[in-house]
Amino acid sequence: RTQLQLREVAGIPLQASTVDNWSQIQNFEAKPDDLLICTYPKSGTTWIQEIVDMIEQNGDVEKCQRAVIQHRHPFIEWARPPQPSARNAKDCMVSYYHFQRMNQMLPDPGTWEEYFETFINGKVGWGSWYDHVKGWWEMKDRYQILFLFFEDIKRDPKQEIQKVMQFMGKSLHETVLDKIVQETSFEKMKENPMTNRSTVPKSILDQSISPFIRKGTVGDWKNHFTVVQSERFDEIYRQKMEGTSINFCMEL
Ligand code: A3P
Repeated sequence: RTQLQLREVAGIPLQASTVDNWSQIQNFEAKPDDLLICTYPKSGTTWIQEIVDMIEQNGDVEKCQRAVIQHRHPFIEWARPPQPSARNAKDCMVSYYHFQRMNQMLPDPGTWEEYFETFINGKVGWGSWYDHVKGWWEMKDRYQILFLFFEDIKRDPKQEIQKVMQFMGKSLHETVLDKIVQETSFEKMKENPMTNRSTVPKSILDQSISPFIRKGTVGDWKNHFTVVQSERFDEIYRQKMEGTSINFCMEL
């Protein structure tokens, strides 16, 4: 694990398997009705994937149980080709830190203090949170993009699921929507082997170190950041995000 290093492509640090399959990303051609989920890591990718599939399957749980989530929503670089979603940077960093502790395919994150530096310098897998979020935010009105916030889905899942449904051009009955809200709750997804990655070998994801579906809350950063770190983070955030109108909810 100490030998593992991210490799840069176009200035973005990536996991080796992503680099190996880079041509699949470059050669990817979207079809008109493709729906791409473009999350920064640890921003609720699995959550929105499950929501989208539940909508697609008209709330039919059994159909959603047909395969594990990573096969139902393959990553472009890791399988056959398959809306940005964003989460506040502090919670994202916490989530990513715990994910990197348990993900044996990524370099060891080191101490929290060390990881803090790695994250703010954008030296984590798939690059800088700031560049990703800023980039998609600037694009959102130019293309057919639905920009979602983790914090909004957490606060009012039904309303946000409805937005996804409309974006997908679907119309589902109220009871189906309620069912989707229930089935994509943190508790359900944590228990569901089709979403919780429990079928992935321990040699890849060691859930005894930290579960893949871990806490699912807004504001866990308060349990990790010192006051000094938080203030420093805010200052760096202001510099890096200068000129963007995006606003994140930091606690519920
Ligand atoms: P935490 O580590 O803060 O718990 P990704 O899927 O992009 O890797 O994101 C993982 C994060 O989303 C984890 O955050 C995980 O717990 C959270 N998550 C996954 N499913 C969720 C759900 N149904 N409700 C709330 N959070 C969820």
